[in-house]
Amino acid sequence: MTNSTTVPAETVPGISRRAALLVGGAGTAVALVGCSTGPAVTGAPSAAKSDKGGSTEVAKLADIPVGGSVEASLNGKPILVSQPTAGKVVAFSAVCTHQGCVVKPVGKEFDCPCHGSKFDAMTGRVLGGPAPSPLVSVPVSVAGNSVTAS
Ligand code: FES
Repeated sequence: MTNSTTVPAETVPGISRRAALLVGGAGTAVALVGCSTGPAVTGAPSAAKSDKGGSTEVAKLADIPVGGSVEASLNGKPILVSQPTAGKVVAFSAVCTHQGCVVKPVGKEFDCPCHGSKFDAMTGRVLGGPAPSPLVSVPVSVAGNSVTAS
């Protein structure tokens, strides 16, 4: 059985999250991870590149719970792949639209660990917190058990 769902593409912001590694004089390493206060756009999970026919597999359908989500990556950028109903798959950039932290799936939400924004895991819309806009959609298709971005 083949089921195909396509989500319209939008410009996808990249990761503005930055990390600094400070190494103390005695060899003690302290990692600091924070959110940028500047623009969050440095790149995007573009689905244009692929080894096989212009698409890249980002997940296996069987690994995504119906009504739930999994973390994935596309061209090295974090994305979230959700299955609202059996066989229908949507995906979003995992980059928070507030200041660029990576959001995580928590039940039917995506939660940002930095300032508490919450997003609907099936639509990407903002449910709460300081995020000014929904997570950016990533177009995906389903063919058999393969979820691909194209
Ligand atoms: Fe501030 Fe996500 S980066 S809520």
